[in-house]
Amino acid sequence: MPVPRTDPGFARDPLPAMLSWATDPADPPVRRLAADRYLVTDSSLGRRILASTQEPFEATSAPFGAVPGWIPGHPDTRPVLTALGSALDTALTGPRTVATPALSCWPDDASLRYLHRFGSALLPAASPAVFRAVAAALTRSYALDRRPGRAAALRRRFAVSRANAALQGYLLRHRATPGNPFLAALLDRFGDPQTAALALHGALGAVCRAAATALSWTVLLDHGWRPGLAAGTVLPAATPTAPAGDRVREALRLWPVAWMLHRRARTTTELGGLPVRPGDHLLVCTFAMHRSRRVWSDADDYRPERWADPPAGYRDGYLPYGTGPGACVGARFVNAAAAQLLDSLPGLAAPIRLLDERPVLGAIATPPRFQLTTASCDT
Ligand code: HEM
Repeated sequence: MPVPRTDPGFARDPLPAMLSWATDPADPPVRRLAADRYLVTDSSLGRRILASTQEPFEATSAPFGAVPGWIPGHPDTRPVLTALGSALDTALTGPRTVATPALSCWPDDASLRYLHRFGSALLPAASPAVFRAVAAALTRSYALDRRPGRAAALRRRFAVSRANAALQGYLLRHRATPGNPFLAALLDRFGDPQTAALALHGALGAVCRAAATALSWTVLLDHGWRPGLAAGTVLPAATPTAPAGDRVREALRLWPVAWMLHRRARTTTELGGLPVRPGDHLLVCTFAMHRSRRVWSDADDYRPERWADPPAGYRDGYLPYGTGPGACVGARFVNAAAAQLLDSLPGLAAPIRLLDERPVLGAIATPPRFQLTTASCDT
């Protein structure tokens, strides 16, 4: 199969290409980004790739991607994932009046809000110092998304190391006084607190960064945001009518937080007529799949009301949480947590001021920063 090459600027800035390809009904199913790197935009090829987490395609990414020896979908992982699911259920039903930071600069503030409101189910009885270390790592991750560069990368690495050390100390203390099934399952699976801390940090990142980013996208899109609006633009108060759950679903269709899923070929194989060699990278692009004109009418528009009667067969190409054995175990939590906050925080409908013009398609799809109040925001 002839494989079209992409614009060489794609790796530096994928956003323009994404916005233009995703609206082209004649999209090729696979594009070549480099000699060993392919971008897959076809949903059936994408599903086939994601169905594999070891052979022929190895999954190496989030949220436990940094944990040595973790194989997504492997039976060994089940006790940890089951305990994580229960911890997330506890997070949703936990106390709702937790002290949280003032609403000011999103999406960072949404992350801190999630850390304070839901993170305590994963970190019971943790000291404020542990929360502060995790918060610093979250903030540094957003800063790196916005201003990539060596200095930002170093600052983030330092904050992540400090958070990992704080979580390791916390787990060591927990080992002396066990009681939380999720922490017990982590320690049981990994043995040493250092590796367990990496997994705990991964889970916290999924809750406080990925899930909180889904809420931020929903708030922004509810206010009528669209690409091209300049920084400084004020968007009037939101008046959404669709149910919160449908707004979150639609936000994740248009701006899937996990916009690109990664697999690495381990053996020689073929994919849609394309020869794939060991070591090749396959990037499954949910961003493009979610805007297929073959499935969605007005594919580039935010229309939450479409979820009252979604198009036939949409599930094949709607994969905000992946598919197959390594699919997300947090999907239910993401929608329920965002819907809970959208329904319970009237301040989220207030006018917003954009602080950036562009979203960032980096490790995750991050919205442009915005403010809901007059509070100041460090750049
Ligand atoms: C908007 C928020 C989220 C999005 C978009 C998202 C998306 C995804 C995707 C696409 C995958 C599959 C990755 C792949 O196949 O390469 C995945 C896996 C996973 N997600 Fe999420 N996720 C989110 C939030 C969460 C939350 C809150 C949790 C819970 C802590 C979570 C836990 C997991 C786990 C444990 C896996 C891997 C399962 C395994 O290793 O077997 N995710 N997620």
